[in-house]
Amino acid sequence: MAWKGQYQITKQLSKNIFAMVVYASVVDFCVADLSLPNGPAGYSCKKPSTVTENDFAYSGLVPGNTSNIIKAAVTPAFDAQFPGVNGLGISIARLDLAVDGVVPMHTHPGASEILVVIKGTICAGFISSFDNVIYLKTLNKGDVMVFPQGLLHFQINSGTTIALAYASFGSANPGLQITDFAFFKNNLPTELLAKTSFLDIAQIKKLKAVLGGTN
Ligand SMILES: *[C@@H]1O[C@H](CO)[C@@H](O)[C@H](O)[C@H]1NC(C)=O
Repeated sequence: MAWKGQYQITKQLSKNIFAMVVYASVVDFCVADLSLPNGPAGYSCKKPSTVTENDFAYSGLVPGNTSNIIKAAVTPAFDAQFPGVNGLGISIARLDLAVDGVVPMHTHPGASEILVVIKGTICAGFISSFDNVIYLKTLNKGDVMVFPQGLLHFQINSGTTIALAYASFGSANPGLQITDFAFFKNNLPTELLAKTSFLDIAQIKKLKAVLGGTN
């Protein structure tokens, strides 16, 4: 019995040592090596010995320039801007909306979003893919709203002052596709666009002229 007990202890010890070895080899982080391409699993990792505290902090979320057609600026801190979030499944962006500013209907193919309003008033909504139900809210300072992954959504400054919000994402690279840009900011032939969207040719040409689309 004594011999068996000893064997058990030895077995347990060697298990623990094995466990320690396994834990010691866990990768704590994978700071993006921006010199290599991004892929479905994110960027490749920088050599840990070259990683510093500066990889885990980002000072780029400064006020964006809202002098543009949408009177809005989205400033991302995704993996491409903020290498420290690579592999962690999170990221953040700053949203500045001038008076009358709008983030047009868009999707993030890769992540859900949670938005927190810091200043002003934002009307935000999303559309379900099942039955196309609209979920619409007016958000004031301190309010948050969540936008499920992949669903069409928008934000509008519905107040009389500038609005500021931050959006967090459940991916280091959530992606962004703005529907109007996808439709009207490329060379998809107008006849095909009319056929596939049921929009009038005149309306398509008007929006292509504004957004820089051709054909
Ligand atoms: C903001 O963008 C506009 C239009 O591109 C440009 O004319 C202006 O100089 C920019 N302002 C700043 C502060 O960069």
